[in-house]
Amino acid sequence: MDATHSEVLQETPSVEIKSFFDSAPPLKDADEISRKLKEFVERNSSTPENGRVTRVVCVTSGGTTVPLEQRCVRYIDNFSSGHRGAASTEYFLKAGYSVIFLYRRGTCQPYCSSLPDDPLLECFDITDDSKIQVHPSHAEVVKRAISEHRAAVVGGNLLKLPFTTIFEYLQILQLIADSVSKLGRSAMFYFAAAVSDFYVPWELLTEHKLQSASGPLDIRLAQVPKMISVLRKAWAPMAFCISFKLETDSNILLAKAAMALKKNKVHMVVANELSTRKDEVIVVAKSGNIVVRRDKAQPGAEVESPLVELLVDRHSAYIKEAGV
Ligand code: PMT
Repeated sequence: MDATHSEVLQETPSVEIKSFFDSAPPLKDADEISRKLKEFVERNSSTPENGRVTRVVCVTSGGTTVPLEQRCVRYIDNFSSGHRGAASTEYFLKAGYSVIFLYRRGTCQPYCSSLPDDPLLECFDITDDSKIQVHPSHAEVVKRAISEHRAAVVGGNLLKLPFTTIFEYLQILQLIADSVSKLGRSAMFYFAAAVSDFYVPWELLTEHKLQSASGPLDIRLAQVPKMISVLRKAWAPMAFCISFKLETDSNILLAKAAMALKKNKVHMVVANELSTRKDEVIVVAKSGNIVVRRDKAQPGAEVESPLVELLVDRHSAYIKEAGV
């Protein structure tokens, strides 16, 4: 942990947060991630010819895991396909944002939703002369996926950072927040990832695989500190923050979202119910609730399109408020 991080932790008098970071296994590629973030933020801090300051959004996507052994064989997982995060990334890029896509390894990726489940085996053919070519039936979607993805990465507008465990997720999130905090109100966080609420502290994990011969397993899970409120207070206090609230019981969804809005002091909470999450979300804000629906009359329309449009609009108002 570098000086900036320990300063932030000192400003945030929370024993749980300190103990979470102190006991987490150190991030293997922390220096490389910091270097990529520095380069990305510098590139997106300068005002381009059109005079509009580039906006940067960190989209979190997919579920975090909680290892049950240090040399992990078993783990607790959190449900999230990553579709929300990947689709939203495409709409933010379309709206002119640069995106830091913090995603769970193996989950949905931007520009890949129209590809078959196994693109490598299903999209390509081997011709007689042993050359590999795209099968004509997939040519259009493959071309679009490659060219749009490449344009975003080569143009310096898309930085993809993978995580698996809750330890990796929160440490990378802290590095991102440190980097984008200098962008002030131009930065946004869009927390679509499903983040573990409980974990086993690293030092309490056995090193080797748990043995079934030892009988039934008793595990005590500690609570993961709610990092969003720390991010709001200390890590990136000027950034525009959107968190998500997922419930399976629609009777408690809005009350829980309103509670999260107040407790974490985020700007908006997107409430979604598991079974209807692809059709409808409710954006909960101090100014009132807004229902956002997918346009079912349009084939292939996604709820993330009007959702991102609304958030971009609110982010513009937030930037204007400060006269930036
Ligand atoms: O990926 P898909 O299959 O497309 O599904 C999308 C989704 C349903 C996963 C997404 O829309 C969604 O709702 N994501 C948030 C799910 C979630 O973890 O909700 P929660 O109630 O556990 O947490 C609420 C918020 O607190 C989240 O924004 C989370 O990032 C944050 N959190 C959670 C735990 C924790 N320890 N710290 C946090 O900051």
